[in-house]
Amino acid sequence: MNNAEQIDQAIGAISGGRVLDIATGTGSTIQWMIEALKDYEWFLGVDSVDITLRTFEDENVFESDDVEFQRMDAHHLELNDASFDTVTTTRSLHHFADPAQVMDEIMRVLRPGGHVLIGDMYSDNQTETQMTHVLAHHWWARIDAALGIDHTETYTRQQIVDLVEGMGLSRVEYYDYADLGGEATDIARTEFTKRQIARYLDKAKDLPNFDAIQAEAEVLLRRLDEVGVHGATMLFAIGEK
Ligand SMILES: C[S@@+](CC[C@H](N)C(=O)[O-])C[C@H]1O[C@@H](n2cnc3c(N)ncnc32)[C@H](O)[C@@H]1O
Repeated sequence: MNNAEQIDQAIGAISGGRVLDIATGTGSTIQWMIEALKDYEWFLGVDSVDITLRTFEDENVFESDDVEFQRMDAHHLELNDASFDTVTTTRSLHHFADPAQVMDEIMRVLRPGGHVLIGDMYSDNQTETQMTHVLAHHWWARIDAALGIDHTETYTRQQIVDLVEGMGLSRVEYYDYADLGGEATDIARTEFTKRQIARYLDKAKDLPNFDAIQAEAEVLLRRLDEVGVHGATMLFAIGEK
């Protein structure tokens, strides 16, 4: 069994009940949980950006009767203590100004015995092809930070473990996940990252250090052609309060 199957097996053992997904984005983790949890009652996705203003490439999970969305800051959840059975947050730790505060909020809104799933990509122990993803991500984070948007470099694996350990959960299990299949220089793969780089260059066009940003983009684009790219390894932690 590979790690993806192990993660799904661990999630499949959980009755989700009332599930909160923090920094839900377009709700991809809710979609995953609908498919992977043993069962569930209801989902609430929260994000600091209103997803209803976004266009969805795929089906919109928030159109489902048992999935709601509320705009909310993860650091100050407007939700009652112990009001959720399961809390998830993925690919977002490095988007929070104070991730430890978000971890405290998760513990506050989670009922005793409830489950947590936390996942994010990390920056160390990556292959050369994965380092392309890490370096591009760090470049995106520098641009966002210069624009006043909370976005830091991705954390090391140990920093993510430390954040999770600080929550005082019982029975935490960690799973590393990477998809290293397919050619790193495959055109579809590199084009996707190139489009992201182009989007960020556009975002950065009025920044005073745009020339330096553009020079960094050239290095990344060359690296994409010469080295290629694979997604960085993610760490998932599943635990119980
Ligand atoms: C990389 S996306 C991850 C989305 C989704 N969880 C996923 O795995 O695809 C990061 C999300 O964090 C949200 N976010 C950033 N800061 C936030 C905050 N303080 N409170 C709530 N959401 C936040 C962003 O709006 C964005 O939707």
